[in-house]
Amino acid sequence: MSILTPHDHAGPQVVAVSPEQEAEWPAPSVPDAHGPQVAPAVPFDPQRRRLPSVRQLRSALRFRPAAKTVVERRLAGVETVEDLASIAKHRVPAAVFEYVHGAAEGHVSLRRARDAFDRAEFDPRVLHNVEDVDLSTTILGRDAKLPLILAPTAFNRLMEHHGEPAVARAAQRAGVPYSLSTMGTTSIEYLTQAAPQADLWFQLTIRKDRDAAAELVDRAAAAGWNALVLGVDTPAVGHRRDASRHGMSIPPRLTPKTFLDMAAHPRWWFNLATTEPLAFESLRPLTGPRTRPVGTLYDPGLSFAELAWLRERWHGKLVLKGIQSVADARTVVDAGADAVVLSSHGGRQLEFAPAPLELLPGVAEELRGQAEIIIDSGILTGTQMIAAVGLGATAVMVGRAYLYGLMAAGEAGVDKMLGLFEADARRTLQLMGARNLDEVRGRVRLR
Ligand SMILES: Cc1cc2nc3c(=O)[nH]c(=O)nc-3n(C[C@H](O)[C@H](O)[C@H](O)COP(=O)(O)O)c2cc1C
Repeated sequence: MSILTPHDHAGPQVVAVSPEQEAEWPAPSVPDAHGPQVAPAVPFDPQRRRLPSVRQLRSALRFRPAAKTVVERRLAGVETVEDLASIAKHRVPAAVFEYVHGAAEGHVSLRRARDAFDRAEFDPRVLHNVEDVDLSTTILGRDAKLPLILAPTAFNRLMEHHGEPAVARAAQRAGVPYSLSTMGTTSIEYLTQAAPQADLWFQLTIRKDRDAAAELVDRAAAAGWNALVLGVDTPAVGHRRDASRHGMSIPPRLTPKTFLDMAAHPRWWFNLATTEPLAFESLRPLTGPRTRPVGTLYDPGLSFAELAWLRERWHGKLVLKGIQSVADARTVVDAGADAVVLSSHGGRQLEFAPAPLELLPGVAEELRGQAEIIIDSGILTGTQMIAAVGLGATAVMVGRAYLYGLMAAGEAGVDKMLGLFEADARRTLQLMGARNLDEVRGRVRLR
């Protein structure tokens, strides 16, 4: 808010206006230096009281344009991803919300990942003409409009019945990649049709059943997907107390309490009950019997042998997700990875894990451009995204951020989240005096 003192025939008036209104406020008339100087009818006296002018109050009041749809109304006051989370909390059962929102054990890894961003410090410059700011980049050889990837997350159709296709369409509109999870509730083939222009990646969880893994790799290749993301941080499932207290486990097991909580969200319940049953769609064989026993979801026996096998079988870009040390980053890049994702899985796996942002400078120093570096865990703003790019990341991944949007308002909620990131990033670049992402690199340090 600022205070302007425009003069009009009624004399000086003081009205509070917002920055947008300020831009539109009629410029005060400046006496023409060469023309006749007309003395004001009433001399300027800021101490004198006056009657409030209805005309000026009316022009200072601005109502938001009326929202056309229910969803627009719901999203109208959203300023941050946290606002999306607050809406989401009321729209889905507690078990579903906590499954997304929660983290492992005492949340130390999640807190650490988030708090690390408080140590970021930009090196801003002034007078650099930042009228035109370009946020685009390339990620694994493809153009992206933002240094951002929507991370692989399980069960998207549990959060909102449109699920993965809604997320993929939003990613396509925003021009950023989206990675389907092996535990996604939409198949590779369906998603390809739903968002044919999107840059789609597949996150592979290799399990004991190597034939199933081979089939998934081949299906992603047949669909023309750009990258395969091998998750390497799940030899066991983290203890997510918040979710399991609500009966949400993998696979989900509903207690009577969970069931009642779900019944308290009839719209969510109705949508779930009247659409295709939830299943790990990509794990269903394309031919033969429709179902195949899933067996153990994670395989603690995974080793470098599987990485070598995968590098031979998959000819596209290979991303190793869940790297948590400089040494591992080096080893997997030497073994053929095109990118590493420095990640503590959003603080959902190992407790006391290192903060990915703090690992980033050391990994960037070690790899020296031999592979792309992506980081995730705890990222909720476009400003954090820019900080990561400045410290050496090609891009960041976000999971919860878009899931809050999805739960809050479906596809429009994901659009909203992407818009918030875009606006943060644009503003941050301008305030830093940077015209593009290259001008940000190297201009961030950790205090
Ligand atoms: C609800 C949920 C489900 C997830 N499921 C998967 C998964 O199936 N595969 C995977 O590699 N990562 C999974 N992740 C981790 C994300 O890919 C990503 O690493 C994490 O969400 C990043 O942290 P953020 O949520 O704070 O952005 C999941 C995360 C969430 C929140």
